[in-house]
Amino acid sequence: MIAPKHIGLIMDGNGRWAQQRGLSRSAGHKAGFEHIPPVLEICHDLGIQIVSAYAWSTENWNRPKAEVGYIMSSLEKHLPEFVSKLHQRGVRFMHSGRRDELTPEALQALDEAATLTQQNGPEIFNFVFNYGGRAELVNVTRKLLAEKVESEVVSESTINHYLWTNGLPDVDLVIRTSGEQRLSNFLLWQSAYACIYVTQAYWPDVSRDDVEAAVKYYNRVMAKI
Ligand code: IPE
Ligand code: IPE
Ligand code: MG
Repeated sequence: MIAPKHIGLIMDGNGRWAQQRGLSRSAGHKAGFEHIPPVLEICHDLGIQIVSAYAWSTENWNRPKAEVGYIMSSLEKHLPEFVSKLHQRGVRFMHSGRRDELTPEALQALDEAATLTQQNGPEIFNFVFNYGGRAELVNVTRKLLAEKVESEVVSESTINHYLWTNGLPDVDLVIRTSGEQRLSNFLLWQSAYACIYVTQAYWPDVSRDDVEAAVKYYNRVMAKI
């Protein structure tokens, strides 16, 4: 089996996972966050080097205030410990997303995580947080205009350079959990040719079998093209 080099995870279903257990949505997000390291380990075991995980979209700010507050405060509180575990395992951390709405504390945690792990690799964990594919292209356009880049020199590689995912290869396989067949504004440019696999499991229940089934599906698709 060939391992995809870069996979995207749309980590959906935390709310339904919690509801099923009579728990609060916040408890679902806690379980979801705690489920990232074991899934990353499974990916690394399978030979997948780069994992982009969608944790918060630019549209998710429309959620109830208490839920937004919970997510933002847990980012500030728990990111350093999460990243120190990644660092111990030699994984590089990066953030893809808009910085504007994030608190100084959250930005500091994200920046420190990237600095701490910058020499690590080849495994990369790309934390896709406060991200939207459209917001990213707006940001690229603003940067091109601000830097007065000549229109004749703009190519696909120029755009790649200004994306938040600068330096990462295209996404080979997108896995969305909880049965939804939607992209929800996830890495639109980077996933132009990605295979899409949907698991029925809610994100906190995603198992090794789910990830393996997605990689098998990717191999079946690649064998045909
Ligand atoms: C995904 O789980 C995580 C975030 C978007 C933060 P949801 O919170 O969307 O869970 P459901 O879709 O309501 O079950
Ligand atoms: C997509 O999930 C965003 C993340 C997983 C972070 P949503 O649950 O927010 O997506 P929609 O609203 O169902 O499309
Ligand atoms: Mg959802």
